[in-house]
Amino acid sequence: MDPLLQAALDARGNAHAPYSDFQVGAALECDDGRVYTGCNIENATYGLTVCAERVALLKALSEGARKFRRIAVAADTDRLTPPCGACRQLLWEFCGDAEVILVNPRGRTESFRMKELFPRPFDDSFL
Ligand code: THU
Repeated sequence: MDPLLQAALDARGNAHAPYSDFQVGAALECDDGRVYTGCNIENATYGLTVCAERVALLKALSEGARKFRRIAVAADTDRLTPPCGACRQLLWEFCGDAEVILVNPRGRTESFRMKELFPRPFDDSFL
């Protein structure tokens, strides 16, 4: 299996999801090959939950990474789990038309470009 997909599946093991019991992992690949992983982290207020994709992205940004190629998202669903709307907004702004690869623990995968998942974005080109 592609190591990026395996990294997303492994990161899913660190999910803190006691409220939804829905564990998600993500692995974000920089243009220089570095990989930052994330998992969803829930909170007793529910609303402060942070998705796996945003954890991976914020980790990468806070370490100085700025150019990204691909992100893998892992969840245990047969209909593969895509990034939520909030994550799509941030992925678009920081990763542009990156490749988004969805995967489940049985090795099923599906690949999209951000433009397919987020076809008419609001971004800094309007400001
Ligand atoms: N979640 C993610 O981490 N990423 C997704 O792509 C979809 C949803 C999380 C948020 C919450 O902790 C749980 O999954 C259920 O919505």
